[in-house]
Amino acid sequence: MKVLVVGGGGREHAMAWRIARSPRVQKVFVAPGNGGTALEPDLVNLPITDLNTLAAFAEHEGIGLTVVGPEAPLAAGIVDLFRSKGLRIFGPSKLAAQLESSKDFAKRFMIRHQIPTAAYATFTDAAQAHAYIDQHGAPIVIKADGLAAGKGVVVASSLAEAHAAVDAMLIDNKMGSAGARVVIEEFLVGEEASFIVMVDGKNILALASSQDHKRLLDADQGPNTGGMGAYSPAPVVTPSAHAQVLREIIAPTVAGMAKDGIPYTGFLYAGLMIDAQGKAKTLEFNCRLGDPETQPIMARLKSDFTLALDAAIDGKLDQIELQWDRRTALGVVLAAQNYPDEPVVGDVIQGLNPRGNHGAEDQMVFHAGTRSSDAGVVSSGGRVLCVTALGDSVKMAQLAAYRAIDGHEGPPIHFRGMQYRHDIGYQAIGRKRNAG
Ligand code: AMP
Ligand code: GLY
Repeated sequence: MKVLVVGGGGREHAMAWRIARSPRVQKVFVAPGNGGTALEPDLVNLPITDLNTLAAFAEHEGIGLTVVGPEAPLAAGIVDLFRSKGLRIFGPSKLAAQLESSKDFAKRFMIRHQIPTAAYATFTDAAQAHAYIDQHGAPIVIKADGLAAGKGVVVASSLAEAHAAVDAMLIDNKMGSAGARVVIEEFLVGEEASFIVMVDGKNILALASSQDHKRLLDADQGPNTGGMGAYSPAPVVTPSAHAQVLREIIAPTVAGMAKDGIPYTGFLYAGLMIDAQGKAKTLEFNCRLGDPETQPIMARLKSDFTLALDAAIDGKLDQIELQWDRRTALGVVLAAQNYPDEPVVGDVIQGLNPRGNHGAEDQMVFHAGTRSSDAGVVSSGGRVLCVTALGDSVKMAQLAAYRAIDGHEGPPIHFRGMQYRHDIGYQAIGRKRNAG
């Protein structure tokens, strides 16, 4: 079978790498892919991003399975388009993708179906938004309604910051149309986790739990980013939290979408805030896998991923069980200088394996913002690489990932201005210690 992976980030590199290991798979195309997928002997980059051209390629090439990484093609209706041509694709329809593409849609949906989430109100009028903030006080959270690539959320610790965020979005149009409507919500306290499942319209198959690190700097300081590192499993998702999330969040979401006439298919990612009592509320939904969460999740997946994807397309996820490596996988994102503002690009990356992750099992370098050039692989985006390693504990996986960056078993990985967090996994390590 030939498989098409849509996207060009670290998440897509990790998915394509895993899919290529399936004995059922002959060839994996990645559109458009990146400098890392270009290195892998069994992946083929396809320089196409236009959806109609992609569908024509899939028809012509006889692609048996397409899986979509990023939200933008989903929100633009790639799944509807492929289905209309009889092509097998895993992802949500354009309407279902609104769970991510409109925060207002997601919040209204959650309230209607009694899914635990922060209290909120939606505004297009700045004066009303300011009045609501004065009434509720700080800390408070201001979110652009539309897709803003992880940059549309301001967690305001003071009233002044909250008012400024409203002005930036509603008056100064800093987020463009994504910020023409804002959601203002209650500040939730706790530890975040990513809970990702596969959905076939009706059946739910949970993937391994994970935790991202959204802030740029160590100890969760600095601005929000797309994610600076992740590990799986996340011990904050205890067995009882896992059961609660499936029962109170995921199952009612899938049932609610079906009831509303928009059956949900695809990956469904609930961003959770888990409080000190272990109880989870939904911060957001994403209609796709997380990035960088996918990198450690794929590193741990032992089952043939294509069997799960095929079963999901056929509405038979209830027949699938996934096997996971019992170890922890941990990925550290190496970001460009000046990320997340205006990342510096075009720097040559040293220390990469010329055959990518071919044959690698315990230590992988998944590429995100990279491209091939005559000078070698160069940086081309804010998040450049995600160095991912497995270990018998979070601490061991952490050690292995940082040793891979520092070059303990080969050359160090380096590019000019490279920045990364040094504490990925710290919450899990602290938790283990607290638990004795
Ligand atoms: P979102 O894009 O909605 O996930 O928001 C980005 C980040 O902002 C989240 O990962 C949280 O760290 C933070 N955040 C969002 N909503 C809230 C909330 N209601 N309370 C506390 N923190 C939040
Ligand atoms: N890592 C967060 C996200 O993918 O949305």
